[in-house]
Amino acid sequence: MYARNLVKYHLTVQDVIKNADALNEITDLVNNGDIVVFKGFEQHKFCKEIIKYVHGILLNNLEIMTPIDHKCNNYVRFSQSDSRAVVPIYCNSVSFFQWNRDLFEFFNRYGDCYRLKNLIAGADSERYLNRAVEGECTSRIACHFYPEGKGYLGAHTDPIGNHQEITSTLILDVGKSNGYYVTKKNNKKWYFEHELEVGDFYIGHPMLVHGVDVPGSVEDFDPLSVRGRWGLLFPVNKIATNTKIADSIKVDI
Ligand SMILES: [Fe+2]
Repeated sequence: MYARNLVKYHLTVQDVIKNADALNEITDLVNNGDIVVFKGFEQHKFCKEIIKYVHGILLNNLEIMTPIDHKCNNYVRFSQSDSRAVVPIYCNSVSFFQWNRDLFEFFNRYGDCYRLKNLIAGADSERYLNRAVEGECTSRIACHFYPEGKGYLGAHTDPIGNHQEITSTLILDVGKSNGYYVTKKNNKKWYFEHELEVGDFYIGHPMLVHGVDVPGSVEDFDPLSVRGRWGLLFPVNKIATNTKIADSIKVDI
């Protein structure tokens, strides 16, 4: 499957989740490789504050390995090109779960992102918003930071299933250059976030090949710096004991 176009949608996420025709139209667009964008979903200022909050967490916490399970803790992860990873990655991240609280009340503020995903999957809109594991899966709001000069994510596709049929990202900072891409025909990388703005929210198909190339310049890496590509993601993940959902698949391009 190849990425096609950016489609800036004319309705808000809040309107779409009440409109069956719009949901069908968006599902069709995504299934044909379009990236559907909701412009100005979040205020620019608020995005910068989220970065400040999450960067503070990253600076002041050590990694504690935490299997995803009912009532698990929010956690920090420093993914540093570990050879055991299915998809190679260098990324610092913080994961938030629906049964824990945080200063930004992420699950209240961004519940509609999950409602949109649920309705596209033909499921109840409140699925994964009930502070409990459902069907051995849970929502997880993840803030991903790819530091300038070092952050990357290998090309891959993500598993599709009834638990989620789209991927979804709120842009917090695209970084100086490169960063997130999907592939178009002939495996050509398309760094489309540079055509969008901080605060835009977009959805796409999990089978689009995607990854992150090192943002900015290699010589500019600084372990304490806030510079790089930042995104807030709204995935649904299997709990650690669930063997029914596949892993991501690395793709050579
Ligand atoms: Fe992915």
